[in-house]
Amino acid sequence: MTATARAVVDLDVTGPVISRHLYGHFAEHLGRCIYDGFWVGEDSPVPNERGIRLDIVEALRAVNIPNLRWPGGCFADEYHWRDGIGPRDQRPRMANTHWGDVIENNHFGTHEFMDLCDMLGADPYVNGNLGSGTVQEMADWVEYLTRDDDSPMARLRRENGRDEPWKVPFWGLGNEAWGCGGTMSPEHYANEARRYATFCRNHGGNQLTRIAAGANEGDLRWTRALMEAVNCLGCTKDDNPVYQAISFHYYTHSGTGINTEDAAGFTDDQYYRTMAYAAGIERIVAAHVALMDAYDPRGRIDLVCDEWGTWWNVEEGTNPGFLFQQNTVRDALVAGLHFDIFHRHARRLTMANIAQTVNVLQAMILTDGDSLVLTPTYHVFEMNKGHQDALQLGAHILEAPSETVGDEELPLLSFSASVKDHRALVSLTHLAAHDDLDVSIDLRGRAASVARARVLSAESASAFNDPSAPDRVAPTPVEAQIDDGVLSVRLPAHSFATIELDLA
Ligand code: AHR
Repeated sequence: MTATARAVVDLDVTGPVISRHLYGHFAEHLGRCIYDGFWVGEDSPVPNERGIRLDIVEALRAVNIPNLRWPGGCFADEYHWRDGIGPRDQRPRMANTHWGDVIENNHFGTHEFMDLCDMLGADPYVNGNLGSGTVQEMADWVEYLTRDDDSPMARLRRENGRDEPWKVPFWGLGNEAWGCGGTMSPEHYANEARRYATFCRNHGGNQLTRIAAGANEGDLRWTRALMEAVNCLGCTKDDNPVYQAISFHYYTHSGTGINTEDAAGFTDDQYYRTMAYAAGIERIVAAHVALMDAYDPRGRIDLVCDEWGTWWNVEEGTNPGFLFQQNTVRDALVAGLHFDIFHRHARRLTMANIAQTVNVLQAMILTDGDSLVLTPTYHVFEMNKGHQDALQLGAHILEAPSETVGDEELPLLSFSASVKDHRALVSLTHLAAHDDLDVSIDLRGRAASVARARVLSAESASAFNDPSAPDRVAPTPVEAQIDDGVLSVRLPAHSFATIELDLA
């Protein structure tokens, strides 16, 4: 069956810039994300440069990865950076008690991470240890990374082979302080965040965006306490508050909790409940933004969602602490929904990081030995990369089918659009499990032509890529045309599509 939907995109009405950092990534010392993921070591038969796996770098460069958050996550609050510098064979070992209770050899440390960011062309987002570290330790790390001259930490960096300071634009003040980061109260953490942020200095020309660790989902107590503590009611664009951003985390499941259902085996009901849960992030973002607007009307403090994505059961036979899950068309559509929501809230929401890049949770890339597979989610990042640093466009759905999920009506079409350099990009996420959808988008009289139209789908919403069928779920061309100022396209069931328009 084919349903119909109508929408409008106003190609002349631009909104805020969609920061490229909304397309950010997260890499934790967890399972096979770093070790046997990004890092294979210099002696590995897998092609690498200085120990970093080259096919991963190539794949991520192709999606214009804008930033990478490291070393956690929960791991960040038990990581002591001095263990990860100096000759590798002399680095101390530690137990990674959060993730698999395995022994970490610290072979991937500060220099390796900065080297990786350099190879990726991505901005580093370093997450400091507030939970079990000290203010001095965090301040020293900032100095080690970013200070020139011959300060003690700059000297130590030079002794370890790096002369020039690095640029580090993003700095995390701990992680999930309500849980693994220290089980603190919002008020206690807000004080700690101010104290730590004060000593994370801007050395030389390096400007840190200090990110306070905020809410789990919609727990507004955290945003409120952090906004009160940063006291920005009178902030102007020239003020520099003690921290410049507040984060929150949002993981998608089908309503029964993280880690309770399988990644690739699900019913239609579980599929729709997953989509409703993913769409629920919009309410959460809107609530955080409304509160931040009240405390900071001039928008000096940014909102950051530095962990998002699906969280399913681990695959059979894998370490439960390694969070290795399959990635299907359903996951790709969760990503499509998130990006539309991120674009709509681009005024305040300036960064987001999917969890996690390689071999963990909703990964872009899955590896096994020397094989590498790009997941359906990866393709959404690739198809959507034109939104990075583009201007948001007014995009409205006038009519679309919906599905009843619990006591909610879930619209089965989501879309957003942006424009950059006379090219508009329209993204469409079609959620119907079985029906096709004929979509008509009124371009409001603006002359345009279709430059490229692609769709990502498969026979089943549970289809995934693996080494024997790496392109089972991959973008293919789709027919899209403009007649009398109306753009039309037929979307298959459970699909994600992008249409690029050249504007006259
Ligand atoms: O991404 C996995 C974990 O999820 C992170 O370490 C933590 O911050 C969150 O609970």
